[in-house]
Amino acid sequence: MGKPITVRAPGKVNLYLAVGPTRADGFHDLATVFQAVSLYDDITATPNDGGITLSMSGLGEHLPVDDTNLAVRAAAALAREAGVDLTETGVDLHIHKRIPVAGGMAGGSADAAGTLIACDALWGTKLPNDRLLALAADLGSDVPFCLLGGTAVGYGRGENLTPLLARGTYTYLVATMLEGLSTPAVFKEFDSGQSGPVPPPEVAPTFLRALAQGDTQLVAYFGRNDLMSPALELHRGARHVMEFFCQHSLTVMISGSGPTLIAQVESVERGEGLAERLRNWPHVADAFVVTGPVTGVEFVPDRYAP
Ligand code: C5P
Repeated sequence: MGKPITVRAPGKVNLYLAVGPTRADGFHDLATVFQAVSLYDDITATPNDGGITLSMSGLGEHLPVDDTNLAVRAAAALAREAGVDLTETGVDLHIHKRIPVAGGMAGGSADAAGTLIACDALWGTKLPNDRLLALAADLGSDVPFCLLGGTAVGYGRGENLTPLLARGTYTYLVATMLEGLSTPAVFKEFDSGQSGPVPPPEVAPTFLRALAQGDTQLVAYFGRNDLMSPALELHRGARHVMEFFCQHSLTVMISGSGPTLIAQVESVERGEGLAERLRNWPHVADAFVVTGPVTGVEFVPDRYAP
């Protein structure tokens, strides 16, 4: 049997997220700009002689490890697509989780993306990129971006991706909350706040220009997230933590559907000083600094080398 394979999959922030009307399939049309950041889940795939098992550590310790877990579903979907007979060849997955659960940073999606790449390598399925991306999109709207990484604009459910030229490095202060938020609940809250027809979503050209120029301050200035008000409406804790960011004159946003709060800071040092203080605030699970953009799923070389 082959050796275990470990990959790392990044979390993401949304620098821009415009929500459009609800579609016939219940999803919302989006125009969003994703950026992959330096916060990773590690996914290890170890060959076994049949079936899919999952164990988790770190922030994933209390998550379900049955086939409701997106990583298990990703392995099963790849096996089905590539004709792998799971009665003879299988995988023991282990995920070490650092990306917050239900935090709007694509934690579950990162695990699914990492599992696809790890199992593809383990089973030698060599699925072409377009089929891998289609599988990823079936698993969840953010899974294709976690494969790709970098900075990209996403349309449709967020799965129709185009990589963007984004100059510069971004440094973010991130505050994760003790309580997560359900993505469908936040979209529902968005819907209930609309009094008329919602226009088709688009990314403002001024925002794209700021990104291309590497003007990080203007990116923050023109940033937008239509899910911010609905998420904060549902999360009193995040509303309270926002005060901290405002007191320090930071342009705060939520990531994705929240409740994780993010703000650009001008240096890692300043960010870390603020993170230390934020960790003591009520409702905050953790606070730390990440940078972006980083690449998508990557192999971790020689993790198990003797
Ligand atoms: O695709 P994903 O599984 O991440 O979506 C979770 C839920 O979030 C969907 O079932 C839907 O309720 C909502 N959603 C949406 N529009 C999107 C993405 C997600 O309404 N573009």
